[in-house]
Amino acid sequence: MKYFQYKTLSELEAEAAQLGCRNIRFVGEPGKISEILGRKVAVGGRTVGNSMCIHPMEGCDGELDGTPGELTWRRYVRFAEGGAKLLWFEATAIREDGRANTRQLWITPQNVGAYRKLHSEIESRHQAVYGATDDLLVPMQLTHSGRYAVPRKTIAYHNPLIDQKSNTPADYPVISDDELERLEDQYVEGAALAKEAGFTALDLKVTHGYLLSELMGAKLREGRYGGSIKNRTRFAVNVLGKLKAKFGNYFTLTMRLGCFDSVPYVKDASRENIGVPLPYELPYPHGFGVDANDPLREDLADVKAAIRIYQEAGIDLLNVSIGCPYYNPHVGRPFEKPDEGNYEMPEHPLLGVERHFRIAGELQREFPGLPMVGTGYSWLQIYAPHAAAANVESGDIRFFGYGRGALAYPHFAKDILEKGTLDSKQVCRTVTFCTWLMRQKHNEYGQFASGCPPYDKEVYGPLIKEARELLRIQAAKP
Ligand SMILES: Cc1cc2nc3c(=O)[nH]c(=O)nc-3n(C[C@H](O)[C@H](O)[C@H](O)COP(=O)(O)O)c2cc1C
Repeated sequence: MKYFQYKTLSELEAEAAQLGCRNIRFVGEPGKISEILGRKVAVGGRTVGNSMCIHPMEGCDGELDGTPGELTWRRYVRFAEGGAKLLWFEATAIREDGRANTRQLWITPQNVGAYRKLHSEIESRHQAVYGATDDLLVPMQLTHSGRYAVPRKTIAYHNPLIDQKSNTPADYPVISDDELERLEDQYVEGAALAKEAGFTALDLKVTHGYLLSELMGAKLREGRYGGSIKNRTRFAVNVLGKLKAKFGNYFTLTMRLGCFDSVPYVKDASRENIGVPLPYELPYPHGFGVDANDPLREDLADVKAAIRIYQEAGIDLLNVSIGCPYYNPHVGRPFEKPDEGNYEMPEHPLLGVERHFRIAGELQREFPGLPMVGTGYSWLQIYAPHAAAANVESGDIRFFGYGRGALAYPHFAKDILEKGTLDSKQVCRTVTFCTWLMRQKHNEYGQFASGCPPYDKEVYGPLIKEARELLRIQAAKP
């Protein structure tokens, strides 16, 4: 089904109103859009040069030892020259078995020099185009992929629905409290390497179902890291404390927080592969930000309590995300078409955008002193900046965060600043080839690189062709 068929902003506005999306509003005038999104934002003791952020976007294109590869460099050069002043450096594993794929970045004492060169390339490319880097913020996102790590998963607790969706046996061992405590120190070691590489901002990835995100929903876990909100936030609070103890105020500290887990979805073959939630019982005892009596709805009480705790522990900036790409991708990334083989949208994508804006807006208004980055704009295509400007202007978010859209159109920020509009011929259509590529493991590296085949054809056109051709050959084998 084709959802995005609007020829004008008024048509989109009318559909949003008809669907009851009260949190989706737009600024129409290009001059106003560039003025609003061009505003500087104070983050910790620093000033970020405009209100636009490139979300952390993995390319699955590192070397097998975690070193940034040729395409990693290419992506960051394009981002650095693209004009967004908040350039969130992608998920970078703090240890080998914390990687979600064989080509995920992984910073080590052996390859830190390559990260230093890449960081300095980002700064010099940005400097060459914009004449300054003191207003450019580049947080490195540290991660442990937990349940989605390869080849061995690490889980924080058992949720039978997530176990089912992730093929996890019910007796699979759960990471112990002592192991978690040791892992905290490995985050600090990762931070020391990030510092050596020149990064002055650091992000903890607490989202998308990965280990730290899973801990947030571990309401039934026993011991020091489960149950109460104090226990569920303990890991990140301890890491933040250890970072402050070791590095003082050197780092601008950020967090990408998954603020609504929802439940796992599967496709319903009897209804044209539309996504449906796996059956759940009420009250639903798992998950973060979910209403136990209706886990398809958010309940932000716990989320607000957690943010309060993290703010006290020293975070300067929060990137608000929702959902898990492995079990309910439509929640985090409202899409036009799923990645091939996955379920179709269970709702109008505008309702997904509305959920993003509603949650981020409520949180930003609750914490006006903590700048936040919003997510879920790509589906709006050329009207993403119009909605972002409305959210920034009303105080419902401080930064417009752009994910898939930035892969398709890395210089979107430059165009917004110069013209107040995007070029319709370059804008992401959310047809999800980037994710499809991410899920392809059938080459000699055990992982295909990801990017935007429709709008970055030169590189990713041949790559997606190769991935399809190899699949065809493998399927034809007896
Ligand atoms: C190819 C790809 C790579 C991604 N890599 C990361 C990542 O490294 N860290 C992260 O927090 N989110 C990652 N995400 C999620 C995006 O940052 C973003 O939250 C999501 O795409 C929704 O925003 P959008 O609607 O603007 O695309 C990734 C998404 C895609 C499609």
